[in-house]
Amino acid sequence: MTATPPAVELHVHVEGTLEPELIMALAERNRVELPYADLDDLRARYAFTDLSHFLDLYYANMAVLREAEDFATMTRAYLERAARAGVRHVELFVDPQAHLARGVGVPVVLEGVSAGLADAPAGMTTGLIPCFLRDRPAEEADEVLDALLASGVPLLGVGLDSAEAGNPPGRFADVFARARAAGLRLVAHAGEEGPAAYVREALDVLGVERVDHGIRALEDQALVTRLAEEAVPLTVCPLSNVRLRAVRTLAAHPLPLMLGAGLAVSVHSDDPAYFGGYVDDNHRAVMEALHLTRAQVHTLASNAVEAAFVDDTRRAELR
Ligand code: ADE
Ligand code: ZN
Repeated sequence: MTATPPAVELHVHVEGTLEPELIMALAERNRVELPYADLDDLRARYAFTDLSHFLDLYYANMAVLREAEDFATMTRAYLERAARAGVRHVELFVDPQAHLARGVGVPVVLEGVSAGLADAPAGMTTGLIPCFLRDRPAEEADEVLDALLASGVPLLGVGLDSAEAGNPPGRFADVFARARAAGLRLVAHAGEEGPAAYVREALDVLGVERVDHGIRALEDQALVTRLAEEAVPLTVCPLSNVRLRAVRTLAAHPLPLMLGAGLAVSVHSDDPAYFGGYVDDNHRAVMEALHLTRAQVHTLASNAVEAAFVDDTRRAELR
């Protein structure tokens, strides 16, 4: 079967595209001491037991990002890789709060990533979606939103990520309402490790337009019916789910069940440098492991285009 090119990437964290080689190169550029003997030692730490275990390494490796140029370098490297995968539209997550503790302010992060996005390969459109960290106080998210809006950098939306279990979305109702009033699109990670109730809360309390992951929605039949009826897009990341042990094996991934239930699922990469593959790799892996039909592959690609935050003209081009 010929693969449908993955034209649209809607769930990728820019800091999750930091490849081990680039981590080492940036550490040298910025004279940051890393607790790894060498590249192999770093790579040996990529066997994750769960989301929190991954997040510990993901946040620790951000120590190498100091200057706006580092963020630009990382972003450019990702966009080049995405272009090779056939991606023509990217909505990129960034975690501004994750850099504050090192004294790297929101303007530096945004300036760097947006400079990288400005160099997107010809024909590729991009949008930036800063995410609030759900395991940090809502007041901090509020301050970060002020800084985001004050930056003058064009933003597509806001999201919610980081450690999900025990961190329901509801605490962020006010900051999401403010973001919506500022004209930003709204998404949130929900139902990755957390329960189906968090998916419901993200929709009802935050008013999100798209759910990132959402695989645990399957545990609540009434919610599944609603998600299908309302055609709520779910950005599913199969290699991530396996590497973070949300799903036992790729062959056991619930993607076919989700498709069968009529959910508006599409396939994305999450943190490709950590989970063994970019969006093209994710598509190829599920096609093979789950024996998807040509029609199912087409539906996944088409769902991604319909879920993108683009105008009608651009959507028609991407179809
Ligand atoms: N931040 C980066 N990757 C994430 C994921 N898979 N879930 C939650 N937060 C994240
Ligand atoms: Zn994610």
